[in-house]
Amino acid sequence: MATVAIYSLKGGVGKTTLSVNLAWCAATLSARRTLLWDLDPQAASTWVLGGPGKADQAQAMFSKDIAVAKQARPTAYRHLDLIAADASLRGLDQLFHDLDKKKRLAKLLGELAGYDRVILDCPPGLTETADQVMRAADLIVIPVIPSPLSTRAYDAVVQHLGGRTALLPVHVMVDKRRALHAEALARHPDWPVIPMASGIESMAVKRAPVGVFAPRSAAAQAFAELWRRIELRLSA
Ligand SMILES: Nc1ncnc2c1ncn2[C@@H]1O[C@H](COP(=O)(O)OP(=O)(O)O)[C@@H](O)[C@H]1O
Ligand SMILES: [Mg+2]
Repeated sequence: MATVAIYSLKGGVGKTTLSVNLAWCAATLSARRTLLWDLDPQAASTWVLGGPGKADQAQAMFSKDIAVAKQARPTAYRHLDLIAADASLRGLDQLFHDLDKKKRLAKLLGELAGYDRVILDCPPGLTETADQVMRAADLIVIPVIPSPLSTRAYDAVVQHLGGRTALLPVHVMVDKRRALHAEALARHPDWPVIPMASGIESMAVKRAPVGVFAPRSAAAQAFAELWRRIELRLSA
């Protein structure tokens, strides 16, 4: 089993969008037994993939003796399960702090050996939760909008990690006609690119991954290509 965290210091940069689409690619294109674990109290991945789970269970998994694998439930897509988020996760940072177990998340992930791939949709911020994620993930995928502020946030994460965890920065919401975007892409030609696309925004309206309702779109192909690169990194 490999864990891929979708993380950024910033909010609104495309973490949930990447999480849902990459999880779908893992399940559908790679036929991996895949779990999307929504760790963000905003519960956006949960909403896209099928609505809330049992109320206020999301945090209890970390504090009580609840079998995490039993919290996973199937989605509409073959091979893709979900552990739902809810508002109780707002207290997760405090809980991790009080528990004083640095590898709590890593331990729970150990109970999910029935999956090939676990995707973590993370809340923003350099928090206790982020530290747990960084200790537990095999690879951290970081969406970066090609702008100076997003790049700064990425640099801060790199510095914080000090080379301890494998990172994959991804340029997202890219509009190559914009000079700033073109310059950022030229600086990092090796970073994968997800275009700015209205089809991606529609995900929240259709409540489905892009590959489901627009499989031939450039956006769907970009997610598929990104997933292939992630699989290569995981097998390296
Ligand atoms: N590549 C993209 N093209 C167009 N809109 C996007 C793209 N990626 C994300 N968005 C939109 O940006 C907003 C924030 O994305 P989201 O994935 O929810 O970010 P986060 O999880 O980091 O808060 C959403 O409205 C989403 O539809
Ligand atoms: Mg989100």
